[in-house]
Amino acid sequence: MMHTPHFTRLGPDVYGNAHPQALLEQIRENGKALQDLMNQHVISTLQYSPESLLQVFRLAAKFESNPERYIRFNSPLQRKILINAFYEPSTRTRLSFDSAWHRLGGDTITITDRSTTGIAKGESLRDVAEMFNNYGDCVVLRDTNAEAIYQMSESLRIPIINAGNGIDEHPTQAMADLYTIFKWRPDLVEKAITEQARIRIGVVGIPCRMRTVRSLLRILTKFPQMIRELVLFHEPGIDPSAPDTYFDPGQRQELEAAGISVITSDDLMAAIPELDVIYINAIAWVGDNYEVHGRSFHLTADLPYKPEAIILHPLARGAELGTCLDHSPHNWYFSQARGAVFIRMALLTCMVERTAQVMDII
Ligand code: CP
Repeated sequence: MMHTPHFTRLGPDVYGNAHPQALLEQIRENGKALQDLMNQHVISTLQYSPESLLQVFRLAAKFESNPERYIRFNSPLQRKILINAFYEPSTRTRLSFDSAWHRLGGDTITITDRSTTGIAKGESLRDVAEMFNNYGDCVVLRDTNAEAIYQMSESLRIPIINAGNGIDEHPTQAMADLYTIFKWRPDLVEKAITEQARIRIGVVGIPCRMRTVRSLLRILTKFPQMIRELVLFHEPGIDPSAPDTYFDPGQRQELEAAGISVITSDDLMAAIPELDVIYINAIAWVGDNYEVHGRSFHLTADLPYKPEAIILHPLARGAELGTCLDHSPHNWYFSQARGAVFIRMALLTCMVERTAQVMDII
């Protein structure tokens, strides 16, 4: 088909609503908490203290506030090599890790098909990892096999980042999610938050099936003081307490043990006027394919959101998130995806011991 060329102006900036500078000013620098991340594998959201997360967010906000400064005047990852191994489709995670590393002056090696490595000849993941020690300084892995990250970490002497292990976890996505919430409301990083200032978060997704939802819920347990209520939505006809349906054993209890008030509901439309943050996802990648859940949910621009409410989505989007929202003030999902680059820049800088190069620049 022939397309008639047409030339239009670039669209309006859809990221103008985030305030990294305000977040930067809200969090006091604590270099020790960043040093704790040096040479640490990133496997699960659970491994982080609230203080370490805040310091990663602070460094990310520093990068986001003035990215040019690091690209032009400082290349903290110069002469460092990232091995980006993605055995499952990805737009955001693979490219943003690549982008983050390049922005900091490093080089990358990418594998997008395990059949192009010795794995196709029966080579063990431990042996592949042993080789990775010689080729790079850090590994990012997305694998449909939830155990692969653990098998590789056994023989790795360089840090590895879990970029999605089956339906288990996606910790750096959860960091990007929370970073977005804190940019929206920097006051939420405080330890003492009044009842009135706390937020009601709605999550549309299947906690036991979606790694993004699992990791999000886990990272929220680190900051229970900001949450007035967490509402988890399921489709009508689903019993969220039935085994293997909605929660994994212990998943709801993990939230409640952290002090979070959890309710489940099948009526998203009725709840929308009360929600401050709406997180929605419909896709679960399982094995070699994906499942779509929650086909009855469909967010559009004409719903009765709170004026200041934000919508988050890890993307890729499906029918659940109308494009009509893209130019509404509720669209924080593009800011969420953009912020992930800065989160990854911050984390990577810590992991390969290059924080000294970036701590005192701004
Ligand atoms: N959010 C996320 O994981 O997107 P990709 O699958 O495109 O990496």
